[in-house]
Amino acid sequence: MNSTPFIEMKSIRKIYPDGTEALKGVDFELRRGEIVGLLGENGAGKTTLMKILSGLLPPTGGEIYVDGKRVRFRNPSDALRAGIGMVHQYFALVPPFTAVENILLGQEGAGDLSLLDLNKVRAKLSALAEETGLKVPFDTPIELLSAGVQQRVEILKVLYRGTDVLILDEPTSYLTPLEVEELFKIMRNLKEKGKAIVFITHKLREVLEISDRIQVLRNGEVTGKISTEEATPKKLAIMMVGKEVVPRVTRKEMEPGEPVLRVKNLKVMSDFNTLAVKGLSFEVRAGEIFGIAGVEGNGQSELVQAITGLRKPLEGEVWLKDTNVTGLGPKELYGMGLSHIPEDKTRFGLAMNFDLAENSILGRQWEPQFLQQLGRLNWNRIADFARYIIKTFNVVAPGIRTPVKSLSGGNQQRLLVGRELSKEPVLVVAAHPTRGLDIASTVYIRELLIRMRDEGKGVLLVSADLDEILELSDRIAVMYEGEFLGVGKAEELTREEIGLMMGGIRP
Ligand SMILES: Nc1ncnc2c1ncn2[C@@H]1O[C@H](COP(=O)(O)OP(=O)(O)OP(=O)(O)O)[C@@H](O)[C@H]1O
Ligand SMILES: [Mg+2]
Repeated sequence: MNSTPFIEMKSIRKIYPDGTEALKGVDFELRRGEIVGLLGENGAGKTTLMKILSGLLPPTGGEIYVDGKRVRFRNPSDALRAGIGMVHQYFALVPPFTAVENILLGQEGAGDLSLLDLNKVRAKLSALAEETGLKVPFDTPIELLSAGVQQRVEILKVLYRGTDVLILDEPTSYLTPLEVEELFKIMRNLKEKGKAIVFITHKLREVLEISDRIQVLRNGEVTGKISTEEATPKKLAIMMVGKEVVPRVTRKEMEPGEPVLRVKNLKVMSDFNTLAVKGLSFEVRAGEIFGIAGVEGNGQSELVQAITGLRKPLEGEVWLKDTNVTGLGPKELYGMGLSHIPEDKTRFGLAMNFDLAENSILGRQWEPQFLQQLGRLNWNRIADFARYIIKTFNVVAPGIRTPVKSLSGGNQQRLLVGRELSKEPVLVVAAHPTRGLDIASTVYIRELLIRMRDEGKGVLLVSADLDEILELSDRIAVMYEGEFLGVGKAEELTREEIGLMMGGIRP
């Protein structure tokens, strides 16, 4: 190892305007040609630290050095000029724009580009794509591309500015196992070219596979720095949570009861006018978790939306217990005992600018318990209820008046799950309920779903995470191109069989 690291962050502190102390004196180094995994539970301070390195946030204290020289970034452009760029936890591309348009967006002087310049840009981009292996269609609107391809556009966008340090904040959360492998290939390639990469993830398997070194944060402090060779999942878990976590949930034998959800020959169209769900029929019974596995984009979203009232089916029926609820909206369905943990919590689950109290009753504001005379909201009751959710579901938050956007991802999800599971549902529809969550929150939410099942509720689980499906489900279906390739009892299907079916190979 040479003496001066490329990047050095020393004693970095961050106190947010609301008083939250997110970083309490953190050191971080990065060398050219290495991949450093940054681990830590939800709210540990990973994103905050990297936002400071990429000029998006000013630190409250501490110093940053690039090649041994002290720097002060006032904004992301300053950091980019120093060669540092970040790909964010949530996609920030403009959906109807093409890849080329998105990459140019925000570029200095982009407004004055002539057609000739555009052709130059395109040539430069093609060369970069060729060199890095980041192949993307340049002229297709972003919204038509899969998550994996969108991710590549994001990375290209950062590299296009000539960055030497690439920060990837949970880049794999929305990728399929195959797309993750492709991303890793690209990362290895960039590393060989001398780029330095910071890789944030919650998946230990990934960090052990791709990184050279690992640094762990807990509660805004560094709790470990270790070379990947010496790291084991156990050691990392201890650094992250202070104790060894046993990520396996236990479940008892159950005899399922009556069907609570019946789907009959359901056909659902996608936003792009294709048939996304091609005539599905199945049941979910009381006291059962029915897991739908599959690579994302095979009709799972449309299926869930049709069942939860967010999308009108083209044909077929949906029954909740003994009632035909086909075509009813979310409000009616919630009133009949549906709980929904939606896949896109920022669009359908939470109102990010609203505070905790408001979010704790979102979609439930019609319930008599939250109303007073003349149909006005009873804010005292709502405040009590929000405090109850915070306590029962271990939401870590400064108070009930905090806007939800300033909670960590794990705490946002706990709030959402708390609201949905605290209403004595008949059926719980959970779509990717633990995506982006740390180990402790993941175990916690999986245990809650098992408890729901044990209490005799029906649970429809949709997840792209095969481990999650295998751990929770009583019965499993694999969805592929709008159909079920196989449905069976969990104990009768192997991991390999399900993996093959996810790739479209019939048993
Ligand atoms: N804009 C903000 N205002 C106030 N507090 C914030 C803000 N953004 C983050 N925080 C708080 O700072 C702490 C660190 O958050 P950060 O987002 O850096 O965590 P993280 O390690 O990236 O977590 P996750 O794994 O959930 O993404 C948390 O307690 C969080 O609630
Ligand atoms: Mg984060």
